[in-house]
Amino acid sequence: MTALASPARSHHAAPAAETVAPGVVLAVRDMTKLYGPGCPECLRQTGPAVNRTTCPVCGTVVACAEITFDLKAGATLGIVGESGSGKTTVLRCLYGDTGPTTGVATLLTLGQPGRDLFTLDPQDRRRVRNFDIGMVYQTPRQGLRFSISAGGNVAERLLAAEWRQIKRIRDRAAELLDRMEVPLSRMDDMPANFSGGMQQRVQIAKALANEPVILLLDEMTSGLDVSVQAGVLDLVQEIQHESNIAVIVVSHDLGVIRLLSDTAMVMKNGCIVERGVTDQILEDPRHPYTQLLVSSVNS
Ligand SMILES: Nc1ncnc2c1ncn2[C@@H]1O[C@H](COP(=O)(O)OP(=O)(O)OP(=O)(O)O)[C@@H](O)[C@H]1O
Ligand SMILES: [Mg+2]
Ligand SMILES: [Zn+2]
Repeated sequence: MTALASPARSHHAAPAAETVAPGVVLAVRDMTKLYGPGCPECLRQTGPAVNRTTCPVCGTVVACAEITFDLKAGATLGIVGESGSGKTTVLRCLYGDTGPTTGVATLLTLGQPGRDLFTLDPQDRRRVRNFDIGMVYQTPRQGLRFSISAGGNVAERLLAAEWRQIKRIRDRAAELLDRMEVPLSRMDDMPANFSGGMQQRVQIAKALANEPVILLLDEMTSGLDVSVQAGVLDLVQEIQHESNIAVIVVSHDLGVIRLLSDTAMVMKNGCIVERGVTDQILEDPRHPYTQLLVSSVNS
């Protein structure tokens, strides 16, 4: 986009795959997503320092700005921040639901050369979604097809990943739903007849079906009763311990971030304002916004 040709802030080149630290599966550099025409002032006129997300010059929403991070195999990265801070935007760009305006996200899976998620052709992008990355959306309606059964939702993912034998697909779907504590007697029921917690567990089963390298979890427990939340969080922890899956967990709830993530980033107005080891951030927050977040939980 020409509007960003003269960026207001620094701009780094994309890393060559071999310059990324060992064990990194995803290297994100300077990912920016604008909703609107964009202008040379967008980045300077938005962000935490001025406490706004909409550029006053051109009206563009800077949903996320210059997001840079590495995700390691088997690690869990938390993203926390208030509503509208850009958390979902980061996940949607990575999953390919929408394209960022600028930036690079290099996927480094075993035996494959580094691939920039944002410049894949449509066929390769589909392959990445079908084989490498799983996503659990903020609301079950975004992540599940309500016109087909719970088992059908999982089976659909397996078909996309080129599973062919109906019996094996059905067995695998049953295994995953059972793992997620969805009663097998309900496998052929429609998601609309499930509780919110069960719908989210079906979404997780679906996202895990193809054993992705990276799992993206967007507020998966918001809207659930506290008692149900705990069960879903337990299951995610079990998966983390059993597999080498890398997880990005998005939540506005510091408790969820503390429970699940090793390192965390705090977002405000589309920008990362603080990052580091989760416990350290929570015990000794440096940025005033993080201090506010932490104290509002502790008080
Ligand atoms: N399709 C869109 N068109 C225009 N603006 C959008 C669009 N999607 C998101 N935005 C804006 O981008 C900003 C970031 O939104 P995003 O959904 O990423 O925030 P979030 O941190 O996930 O918030 P929440 O905690 O409420 O889910 C918000 O100002 C939002 O209104
Ligand atoms: Mg969101
Ligand atoms: Zn602007």
